[in-house]
Amino acid sequence: MTTSSRRAILGISAFYHDSAAALVVDGDIVAAAQEERFTRIRHDHDFPKKAIDYCLAEAKMQPEDVSYVVFYDKPLKKFDRILETYFAYAPSGFWSFKKALPLWLKEKLHVPRGIRKGLQGRYNGKLCFTDHHQSHAASAFFPSPYEEAAILCADGVGEWATTTWGVGQGNTIHLKGAISFPHSLGLLYSAFTYFTGFKVNSGEYKLMGLAPYGEPIYADLIKKHLIDIKPDGSYRMAMEYFNYCDGLTMTGAKFAELFGGPARKAEADISKREMDLAASVQAVTEEVMLKTAQHLHKTTKMKNLVLAGGVALNCVANGKLVREGPFENIWIQPAAGDAGGALGAALFVWYQLLENERKCNGKDFQKGSYLGPSYTNEETKAYFDTKKCKYHSFDNEQELLDLVAKRMDEGAVVGWSYGRMEFGPRSLGARSIIGDPRNVKMQSIMNLKIKYRESFRPFAPCVLKEKAHEIFVIDEKTESPYMLLVAPVRDEYRKKLTEEEQAAMKDPDLRKRVNVPRSDFPAITHVDYSARLQTVDEERHGRFYRLMKAFEKRTGCPVIVNTSFNVRGEPIVNTPAEAYNCFLHTEMDVLVVGDCVLLKEEQPKLEASEQKQYLQQFALD
Ligand SMILES: [Fe+2]
Repeated sequence: MTTSSRRAILGISAFYHDSAAALVVDGDIVAAAQEERFTRIRHDHDFPKKAIDYCLAEAKMQPEDVSYVVFYDKPLKKFDRILETYFAYAPSGFWSFKKALPLWLKEKLHVPRGIRKGLQGRYNGKLCFTDHHQSHAASAFFPSPYEEAAILCADGVGEWATTTWGVGQGNTIHLKGAISFPHSLGLLYSAFTYFTGFKVNSGEYKLMGLAPYGEPIYADLIKKHLIDIKPDGSYRMAMEYFNYCDGLTMTGAKFAELFGGPARKAEADISKREMDLAASVQAVTEEVMLKTAQHLHKTTKMKNLVLAGGVALNCVANGKLVREGPFENIWIQPAAGDAGGALGAALFVWYQLLENERKCNGKDFQKGSYLGPSYTNEETKAYFDTKKCKYHSFDNEQELLDLVAKRMDEGAVVGWSYGRMEFGPRSLGARSIIGDPRNVKMQSIMNLKIKYRESFRPFAPCVLKEKAHEIFVIDEKTESPYMLLVAPVRDEYRKKLTEEEQAAMKDPDLRKRVNVPRSDFPAITHVDYSARLQTVDEERHGRFYRLMKAFEKRTGCPVIVNTSFNVRGEPIVNTPAEAYNCFLHTEMDVLVVGDCVLLKEEQPKLEASEQKQYLQQFALD
């Protein structure tokens, strides 16, 4: 048994979606990670045993060293919502209630017992429970660089609240208003995700990526029938169109009738209707977010805004808030979904309940979101040695970076694993697959030979922070270190389409349209010239920034393509072994893990069946 004079708070989110743990020690965010990265089960919602073990190990602590354990929502309050909703709709909600009940009785109502068991019975301290939106709000405000800010959280649902707003000042957040279930902007978006044939809780990103292909022709219909938006951004939804309160689906017959037919089946072709529905619900979401932000600005008179909750991952809406919204500065929690609740809950205890001082120095406290595990060069080499892999170890960083930049310039796709893994859904240069955005073939190479999917969405760019405003329409002071903003490519980099290309843009197959080069950076430019950008700076991103500098020095291009280091359906890689396996079983050309570089041509050749076997482990998302 060890003892510690440090005060550690362990935050946990679990049992819904993307379980996670976060450890705050004396106010410092020491570690945070999602359980899926350890169990290799995408969006794992089980108790985050492995993530907790990792967080404690990172701090060199034992369960008995922890001062407080805090769970990110209130299960009893949530159960109350489920019961009340059931009785309000009974008997029609029987089947969904029957489906939900066993898990509640087995697990969700026994969170304290689960937590103590998960900590091997070695934690006897206090257990705290924060409100779901308190956790989101805390995750948005406390790690932000601001001394004070307005707070806006929007998600599907926690206990009751679905949209909340308030203010954060110093070490305190105060939520002043809420919209409650069943009215929910997040669930409205998810209903359209379902109706357009994507998976709820993970396909929302696809719906957002589909929107630029469509026209918002249904926006008025949505506002007339489905959601009544008030001038202050508050809203009410017409529940007779939705099924999520009492059914096993998100939308019902009335919804289908409104949009001229049933929901698209997952494997069916995407038609103009789906594109227009995507554009329409996107426009409505942006309108609600903008109106709420305007009202919040007027009532709080603050110049900063912080955001969290799943809706805050809608980077198109975020980009609009930055460009058209009333706030001077915006900071968004990178783990804006429920995983980030673990971090918010821990910070809430440290600042608000324990009343510790919060000193701002103009920088955020999220550490680039590099809050996960890292592996030493010794560990990495030991793994490669056991596997008898051929690798090149570099003592000189510049030589390594120059080699990688050269290979990228020659068209190579590079797996890049360096330092601590990212916390949150995006790869931000610690576990990334990268390539040359100028290469017209890069998009289809990455999709078909690396991800093994065909996608209608382009990849995301990383851009040197100091050059971002030269390439994209954002002002010089705006940064997007967590890839949470969409901004258009500047006119001077846009390309005039040839007649042939214009014809291709009408192809019913969207994958053909996305491959039409629209700018000098075709791999990262969407059909409406938008790009989901990450600005990269040396202080936050270290070696990843220096790699981009090496690429810029060689090519004059301050942009690279960045996608998550995984294949379709696989959680992002964590360990050197997972990085190597992903590299080996795809057509990636180069792998960099720490100081080691591996070249595909020097690795053993795999049989097609081995590759197939690897891919089959992961369910389609
Ligand atoms: Fe949430």
